[in-house]
Amino acid sequence: MRSALSALPSALICGQVLESMAKRHASLILLSQDHHHALALAIRCRKQGLGQLNPGNPKAMKGLAEEVKKFFQQNLKPHFEAEEKVLFPLIHLHSSDTETLISALLSEHDRIRKTVTALENEFELSKTLFDLGDLLDRHIRQEERTLFPIFEQAVPPLAAEQAGREIKGILG
Ligand SMILES: [Fe+2]
Ligand SMILES: [Fe+2]
Repeated sequence: MRSALSALPSALICGQVLESMAKRHASLILLSQDHHHALALAIRCRKQGLGQLNPGNPKAMKGLAEEVKKFFQQNLKPHFEAEEKVLFPLIHLHSSDTETLISALLSEHDRIRKTVTALENEFELSKTLFDLGDLLDRHIRQEERTLFPIFEQAVPPLAAEQAGREIKGILG
């Protein structure tokens, strides 16, 4: 079951993503909603890594790591699958000059997966949380600012609608 984070930080923090969500193609809305939740979590991870959140409270830090692992399993894992199986191939089909961008995004998915796995190791947990937050933040902003607009401009309406159905099927 996919989780919705209960304690989201100020919408101002995610303002630009929220602003772009308002204009999103209907087929991308579920992915953008994931981005909003993931961005809020990424910001908390980065703050935790910098010692600005729960300073001197290792239990809270471990709690955040557990929350991230759960969010990854429930939300980011299927999210990455939808992007890799549906979104990226379709965008590349209709906009061939996106190869470098998509290749970079795929590498980032791998790095995010590896960093989530590294959360199992409590050694340098603070650094791992910071790295994950930083990576997720930049990845999401790149997709919202660069990739999604290409989908909206380059993919024909019927193909875009079909992609929306397939994405929904994967995200559940
Ligand atoms: Fe992605
Ligand atoms: Fe994404």
